[in-house]
Amino acid sequence: MLRINSKQQKAPKRIGRYSILETLGRGASGTVYKAYDPFVQRHVAIKYSSDLSQIEDRQARDRVLRSFFREAYAAGNLHHPNIVSLYDAGMQGSHSYIVMEFVEGVTLKSYAKEAAPVDLASVINIVTQCCKALDYAHEKGVIHRDIKPSNMLIASDGHIKLADFSIANVSRSDDTQIIGLTGSPMYMSPEVIREEVAGPQSDIYSLGVVMYELLTGETPFSPGNMHSVMYQILNHEAKPVTRLRLDLPERLSEIVSKCLSKSLSQRYQYGYELERDLEVCVSAQYFQEEKIGDREKRKMLSKLAFFAGFHEEEVDGVHKVCQWYNYHAGQAIVNEGSTDDGFYILALGSVDIRKGTILLDTLNAGECFGEMGVLNDVPRSASVVAKSFILLMKITAEALESTSASCQMQFYKKFAQTLSQRLVSSNERCIESTLNQDKVKKQTNSKAANDKKKPRTIKKQQVKDE
Ligand SMILES: Nc1ncnc2c1ncn2[C@@H]1O[C@H](COP(=O)(O)OP(=O)(O)OP(=O)(O)O)[C@@H](O)[C@H]1O
Ligand SMILES: [Mg+2]
Repeated sequence: MLRINSKQQKAPKRIGRYSILETLGRGASGTVYKAYDPFVQRHVAIKYSSDLSQIEDRQARDRVLRSFFREAYAAGNLHHPNIVSLYDAGMQGSHSYIVMEFVEGVTLKSYAKEAAPVDLASVINIVTQCCKALDYAHEKGVIHRDIKPSNMLIASDGHIKLADFSIANVSRSDDTQIIGLTGSPMYMSPEVIREEVAGPQSDIYSLGVVMYELLTGETPFSPGNMHSVMYQILNHEAKPVTRLRLDLPERLSEIVSKCLSKSLSQRYQYGYELERDLEVCVSAQYFQEEKIGDREKRKMLSKLAFFAGFHEEEVDGVHKVCQWYNYHAGQAIVNEGSTDDGFYILALGSVDIRKGTILLDTLNAGECFGEMGVLNDVPRSASVVAKSFILLMKITAEALESTSASCQMQFYKKFAQTLSQRLVSSNERCIESTLNQDKVKKQTNSKAANDKKKPRTIKKQQVKDE
């Protein structure tokens, strides 16, 4: 990898219109600063390249520049809650720079250092968010090619943000590839090491290495020099995660191995396949741990208020196709802006519904959310976060379609009732807030009128003081 003295770089006071506040970190291609954008009035992160004039070889300099702006081109077209947004890019003297969303939080690298081995639910939460981001980018023809813990940020609200599409490979036939020059060997897939074309599955491989590390606290291959790591990636099989951590379910070991498979035909093709297997695995593990059998779950369903009015056979139909999950306090179940076609019913605990930092509502056991995801394939308009340990039932649009016509009818009836209730309560909230605003206005007006009457007294007081 081409490294150009980024350590000796003195922080500039300004880059473009942005004033530099502090250094966030240094990487192979430059330094990342926290800065302030006075126009939009927000903090940003700026990746500022090392002095490119230090690179004597013109071809190498052009390659670095191309790679830097390739990040701008690739990331500029990506708008996803789990991907760091790119705002601007430019040149300042012999430095190129990229302005991006500032993520208040930590990298997965420092998180893993502290927390690994990480609990299964948190690992699944992290990996699932990465799967969503990767599926989104892959669909747009962008392969990350450098998935590793230092390029994964955990925002303070729990969102995972993938950063650094700096060596992203945009699927265009005229694009010069830079395979072999960049990337970290430990997270590189066998095909990338063999200098073959990297595809979506190469990112899934790298994500598998990250998952392995989070679960066990160890990398799948022993760290060493670049050649030794590359040799192991091509020729050795990683130890199953269950050999390093006995409390993990066997199914999880198979999932991690499938991510790390050397053969593309054996590896997951898409992020959602990995996500689905993880979901099944965690729900299965929960019920194994808690010894809640199938009959118990069926009983739980019939107790939920949502199913009042459903016939026994209809509840049986739901029982066959629904899935069960548990979350711990603070874990996100649904992320604002993400797409998922699940409908959820809370069986235990409570959740907060949040839009940005605003708390919209709190739902308790028996209540449901996510009906819009089933009715309409639109991004989620709010986030749902577990307030306590929760247990919930999920049914996807596809699963619902596989139930009987009468069962589907019952669901749609409930959806209509829920939506009309939500409309009524949001109208009430709207009226309440308008009334409150009027009240405040009236109070301010009468205070202003009173103040107008007072100046003479104030003057007297002032004279007295003098
Ligand atoms: N958008 C961002 N918001 C906040 N901090 C960031 C952001 N992007 C990067 N950082 C911080 O800057 C550090 C340096 O990032 P950079 O991408 O230059 O290097 P790296 O990923 O650590 O290494 P490499 O160059 O090998 O990819 C990161 O470790 C992270 O702490
Ligand atoms: Mg980086």
